[in-house]
Amino acid sequence: MIKKLNHVAIAVPDLDAAIKLYKDVLGADVTRVVDLPAHGVTVAFVDLGNTKIELLYPFGDNSPILSYLHKNASGGIHHICFEVEDIKEARDRLLERGMRVIGKSEPALGAHGKPVLFLHPKDFCGTLIELEQI
Ligand code: CO
Repeated sequence: MIKKLNHVAIAVPDLDAAIKLYKDVLGADVTRVVDLPAHGVTVAFVDLGNTKIELLYPFGDNSPILSYLHKNASGGIHHICFEVEDIKEARDRLLERGMRVIGKSEPALGAHGKPVLFLHPKDFCGTLIELEQI
């Protein structure tokens, strides 16, 4: 059901510093910075060719990553994203198996303008999983 690893998302306390780190120290291509008010995050993408790193920074006072950054002051891996062909089919299959989808179980448009869903970390080895329909 899951296909490629689309991205690994890292929550960061300082987006400019994180972009500089990936660009200047690690020599990667950092593509763009995008505000996603609906998701409460500002993101920048590190393009690695075979996958991406999504640098996540809080947008607004109700950002879902604020509590994560309070617990992990220097940042950390927040979620991983797998591609699926049909997100509603994937959701139905997971719900049938008792897995929990976070929030409303209707897919929302994610950072790439494609439908996404998040799965509960307690059901997946402590890892927050995002599914993105490609
Ligand atoms: Co993501």
